[in-house]
Amino acid sequence: MYKICVFPGDGIGVEVSEQAVKIIRKLGEVYHLVFEIDEALIGGVAVDRWGVPMTPEVLKLAQGSDAVFLGAVGGPKWDSLDSSIRPERALLELRKGLQVFANLRPVRMFPSLVGNSPLKEEIVRGVDFLILRELIGGIYFGDMRGIEDIPGGGQKGINTEVYTTGEVDRIARKAFEFARRRKKKVTSVDKANILESSQLWRKVVTDVHRSYPDIQLEHRYVDDCAMQLIRDPKQFDVIVTTNMFGDILSDESAMLTGSIGMLPSASLGDHHALYEPVHGSAPDIAGQNKGNPIAAILSVAMMMEYSFHLLELTQAVERAVEQTLADGYRTADIYQPGMCAVSCSEMGDLVASKIKA
Ligand code: IPM
Ligand code: MN
Repeated sequence: MYKICVFPGDGIGVEVSEQAVKIIRKLGEVYHLVFEIDEALIGGVAVDRWGVPMTPEVLKLAQGSDAVFLGAVGGPKWDSLDSSIRPERALLELRKGLQVFANLRPVRMFPSLVGNSPLKEEIVRGVDFLILRELIGGIYFGDMRGIEDIPGGGQKGINTEVYTTGEVDRIARKAFEFARRRKKKVTSVDKANILESSQLWRKVVTDVHRSYPDIQLEHRYVDDCAMQLIRDPKQFDVIVTTNMFGDILSDESAMLTGSIGMLPSASLGDHHALYEPVHGSAPDIAGQNKGNPIAAILSVAMMMEYSFHLLELTQAVERAVEQTLADGYRTADIYQPGMCAVSCSEMGDLVASKIKA
């Protein structure tokens, strides 16, 4: 039996989580496995209910599960709250509370979607790389932070980028290990020409690389990497980078595949794992059954692989998604003339119906 905790969250997080659960249940039926699902509130809905984005009980529930699935959190309704109780806090506390330091964001072009990318077909066809984002350190968590008054007038906003040897060492190891199972190339992305934290990052990655002589390592500055991702994305295999650079580069990379609605993620630590679509709560289309559930569904595929080591189920889900796209079904974000437009729940039904042992 596998115990899964589901946090639908806010906005389209709710509708895409419903499709993720649909897929988990279908997998249970087809493969005769028992997936026990607990749902709970985090994010804006939790602020409305309890006044905080995540209660300690809910974090305990997550820590006691075999895997955690999260839809998305946040929305304009809560944007003016103090940053200590904004919905996004829940996500950061959850990541920290589960100690999931390695965020995997695979960027893969589906053959039937090459026409959806704003870039030329020859640039994006065959794109397949992995962004490995450090998730519980860096400027997101640096202790020196806040907004202070400047004597004499005005204020200053402060955040600090901090990385320790240990934090860089463990994410670097993960990068080399993933590269070993792929095309054996790691690109470490930093801003070492300016930032001391990046200088340490580069040094530690270089040190760790000595234990992985079969892997090719290159260093790139983040501005250069942002450009290379558009110029020639196929040069990349594993990109390992800091929390904030990974956040930015993964949204950029999403556009190679045509829509951020296609990108799944897995966040792994030594004891827990969290799965979430890379897209956010998309308040502009929330509650209209218009979201693309594929990122959420592919996150379930990652859960089967990384938490449960059920690779056959991962492949069954990926095949079902590929077939549904090849059959011409599209949610609004990936719609093209001549295709068959479907809603979020219809896309979920279609993919579920194609899951076969
Ligand atoms: C992401 C999101 C989050 C992040 C926000 C919602 C806190 O943008 O998962 O990429 O910045 O990590
Ligand atoms: Mn982001």
